[in-house]
Amino acid sequence: MEDLQKLETAIIAEITACDDLSRLEDIRVAEVGKKGRVSLMMREIGKMSPEEKKNFGPKLNALKNKINNAIADHKTELEAQALNLRLLSEHIDITLPSPPENLGSIHPISQVMDEVAEIFTEIGFSIAEGPEIEEDFYNFTALNIPEEHPARQMHDTFYLPEDKDGKRKLLRTHTSPVQIRTMMSGPPPYRIIAPGRTYRCDSDATHTPMFHQVEALVIDKDIHMGHLKWCIEEFCRKFFELDNVKIRFRPSYFPFTEPSAEVDIGCAFKDGEILIGEGDDWLEIMGCGMVNARVLENVNLDPGEYQGFAFGMGLDRIAMLKWGIPDLREFFAADLRWLKHYGFAALDIPSLSTQNHKAGGK
Ligand code: PHE
Repeated sequence: MEDLQKLETAIIAEITACDDLSRLEDIRVAEVGKKGRVSLMMREIGKMSPEEKKNFGPKLNALKNKINNAIADHKTELEAQALNLRLLSEHIDITLPSPPENLGSIHPISQVMDEVAEIFTEIGFSIAEGPEIEEDFYNFTALNIPEEHPARQMHDTFYLPEDKDGKRKLLRTHTSPVQIRTMMSGPPPYRIIAPGRTYRCDSDATHTPMFHQVEALVIDKDIHMGHLKWCIEEFCRKFFELDNVKIRFRPSYFPFTEPSAEVDIGCAFKDGEILIGEGDDWLEIMGCGMVNARVLENVNLDPGEYQGFAFGMGLDRIAMLKWGIPDLREFFAADLRWLKHYGFAALDIPSLSTQNHKAGGK
């Protein structure tokens, strides 16, 4: 019999030095496998004298166990090392942004809101908001549309069920209630725009039950229609990116403005397409006027001291005009192909001043 202690030291050293799992398995087979060196030595025990058996038996057994344990331990260690290496090589930095094409695109309505906000904030307006579920008072009464006024019928209002006090809230039919909320929130002057969702019970190619408007309100001392006209012209020039945009003010009626006008923009209809800034046709884009003295009185302002103007326009409408989008209903159909075509690159900063906006696919 060899010197078992020496043998053990050599085998354990070999195991410890081994840096490869399949090589480790080779060592196992060579030492303690069926025909391994230590296994063969154990077979020799049968031929030994009882004295030798007593001496070698337990020693060999212990050696075999030590080798098996050392191999198992080393295997676990090598497996852990292999896993760590794999994790390192397959490391993913989850803080990196994904490629821009996976981020989706900006909806034309969001784009239009950003552009409108940019144009007006640049000339001193701030942004105001109001609730979409509105009270009758703000949506109608305070705007000089009392109960039984025919204008109420024209608004195709969605009403909510009556509450405990017998009052019915409604989905705001326009953004004009934000005028009232703004004027009741503190003293003049006011220079605000209020973009947001509005609702009317109506649906065809140019009307959807939910649509978007932007309201503008300016109240100060000595405000006149010249200011209103300049603001609207300036807006149209910037928004449609045309120096010579043709605009016409057509007398109209709104209960909350006096005098009132509708604004038409010059255009041409060519091969089923609308071209802004050309031709002799006209297209209505907004309602406007000087804030009615009665509305000012309703919010406790003295019409002898303060005057102002307001206008409201459909954001969906001006988006359709700017980018030649034919059907309003498509805005809300959530069709990814449509969004890909008309949407805006997600990482573009919507900005007119840097001129880096472009309709997708156009
Ligand atoms: N609120 C009006 C509408 O929805 C538009 C408008 C706003 C008209 C402000 C005049 C002044 O039709």
